[in-house]
Amino acid sequence: MTDDDTELEARLEEQEAFEPPESFVEQANVTDEGIYEAFAENWPGCWERAADLLEWDESYDEVLDESEAPFYEWFVDGKLNASHNCIDRHVEAGRGDEVAIEWVGEPGETRTYTYDGLREEVEAFAAGLRDLGVEADDVVTLYLPMIPELPIAMLACARIGAPHSAVFAGFSADALATRMTSADSEYLVTCDGYYRRGEALDHLAKANEGLESVDHGVSEVVVVDRLGADADTTAGGDQRDFGELVDEHAGASVEPVPRDAEDMLFLMYTSGTTGQPKGVKHTTGGYLAYAAWTSRAVLDIEAEDTYWCAADIGWITGHSYIVYGPLALGTTTLLYEGTPDHPERDRMWEIVADNEVDIFYTAPTAIRAFMKWGEEYPERHDLSSLRLLGTVGEPINPRAWKWYYRHIGSEECPIVDTWWQTETGGMMITTLPGVNTMKPGSAGPPLPGIDARVVDVGGTEVEAGRAGYLTIDRPWPGMLRTLYRNDDRFVSEYWAEYSDTGSDDPDDWIYFPEDGAKLDEDGYITILGRVDDVINVAGHRLGTMEIESAIVGTEGVAEAAVVGGDHEVKGEAVFAYVITEEAADGDEALREEIVANVEDAIGPIARPEEVVFTPELPKTRSGKIMRRLLEDIASGEELGDTSTLRNPEVVEKIQGSVGER
Ligand code: WTA
Repeated sequence: MTDDDTELEARLEEQEAFEPPESFVEQANVTDEGIYEAFAENWPGCWERAADLLEWDESYDEVLDESEAPFYEWFVDGKLNASHNCIDRHVEAGRGDEVAIEWVGEPGETRTYTYDGLREEVEAFAAGLRDLGVEADDVVTLYLPMIPELPIAMLACARIGAPHSAVFAGFSADALATRMTSADSEYLVTCDGYYRRGEALDHLAKANEGLESVDHGVSEVVVVDRLGADADTTAGGDQRDFGELVDEHAGASVEPVPRDAEDMLFLMYTSGTTGQPKGVKHTTGGYLAYAAWTSRAVLDIEAEDTYWCAADIGWITGHSYIVYGPLALGTTTLLYEGTPDHPERDRMWEIVADNEVDIFYTAPTAIRAFMKWGEEYPERHDLSSLRLLGTVGEPINPRAWKWYYRHIGSEECPIVDTWWQTETGGMMITTLPGVNTMKPGSAGPPLPGIDARVVDVGGTEVEAGRAGYLTIDRPWPGMLRTLYRNDDRFVSEYWAEYSDTGSDDPDDWIYFPEDGAKLDEDGYITILGRVDDVINVAGHRLGTMEIESAIVGTEGVAEAAVVGGDHEVKGEAVFAYVITEEAADGDEALREEIVANVEDAIGPIARPEEVVFTPELPKTRSGKIMRRLLEDIASGEELGDTSTLRNPEVVEKIQGSVGER
């Protein structure tokens, strides 16, 4: 480092607030600070601005119907189609030759889909799906990695009014089966495999294994041939080949089916406090309008941009900000199949430079990994095309924020730290990049029209600087409408904590996202993390109960407690405390079996970082496991109060066994 660099580092380290660069503000989609007040004064009418970004087959009668709160309805009686909005209208506007999807495969090949080309593929696959018997409202499961067939299948489903349920390709066979069963889904689109760090992964074997444990009959399975001759498992029996199905229907014209604004666009399963994943239901009108609006206001996307969100489409971030939001705005969205370190640790920056990416959106875990690898990798490439950077999924520490700002953005790109959830459909708390000052570590103020607060257990707002619980006091268009076929759980999970659930007054309904938060004097919100039994590993949301039940299913295990412990790169890592049955030895073999069972039940993302065998777990006098203490032990922190424990002596023993490892 030169002296100048050292000086700059020192200055950055001190600096707590950053103004958006003038060059960015000059061209930003939103620059008027008055937008906050304008939304507040005209609520809920302000949301027409979001709806206006879409093309409606029939306009809505009312922006919001609150009469059945918390079962809110948005853009009541409006009709539209998401596939039309993401494709056809851009073609009709004369932009058919513009690039919709730019795909980069891990081995290096690329595929480019113009809006015209995308329409052809989507229509052909939509016709194919119909041919297989898919009708409006049938749930189609998509178990696919980052290949263009995933967004094509999503948009084909949307075109014919069949909700999709995407299952992250990294999830296990069991996880696929649970989700297909829960959604009663009779159709599956999957693939033979994909490339990861140069290796061809067998995906179809996993899909087939999952299919065996689906409780109901599965009518049709469509398999994308991604690997060609590299595939270990290929489509067999009645399974259909994606490419052939598309070829058979090439040139088909499939009119987008007008859907009610409140019709389900997709289901997305996410982890909750109990063992069963929750099927979050998102709608066609409110969700799409909200995804488009936030893509425009926060990500500053314009039709001419090349935009890259490096998340996986199998999670909500990819749904809202790789597929629906960006395509609704008619931009070029980039998709990358592989990992950031293949063939080398500069892969991401090479892709940015090659494609002249304007906007880049990723998770703090990735940024912390880039930071660990060192700035020499981004320095190899010209990143000057970048205009805006974003982060999502977990808190970002100021050091990582500043590294991103300096080494990726050259201090010329604002960073948006966007807080939101699978359930919120889109961003909720973040700065507007052309308006607000940025404060590293703090997500920012709630977006215009979003009524977020920080309260105590009783629901009273806490003073600035004090930790409390985050609540959202008014509905928003992108919100989940319910949990699939489980209205009761929807009410109890999200609304019961702070609402008067017997009330007819919509103002009494308050959404609880189960995050802790802190507000500062300027109204900026710092997210402190989950307050339920969900942990966030590398930006992936995992229920500790799900992991515990996989561990307890291991022969020789009597009891288990799983908590999140601090991790330098992943933010949090899975720590498992395990009590064995009397006869069982907590040995290496058992440890391996436990890890394998967790991978089978959920996937490698849930793999425990540590398995600590212990004779007992710290419990309160009423028999509740003191998770806080286990978290402190996992993170190597000073222990909190142990005086309420029934068995305080156990804590030292556990610390001892953690120390041994
Ligand atoms: C966490 C991902 C801090 C939070 C879009 C939330 C964040 C959970 C941020 C949702 C952020 C998300 N800062 N924490 N910018 N964004 N989170 O459903 O705990 O996978 O409740 O949605 O991630 O995770 P989910």
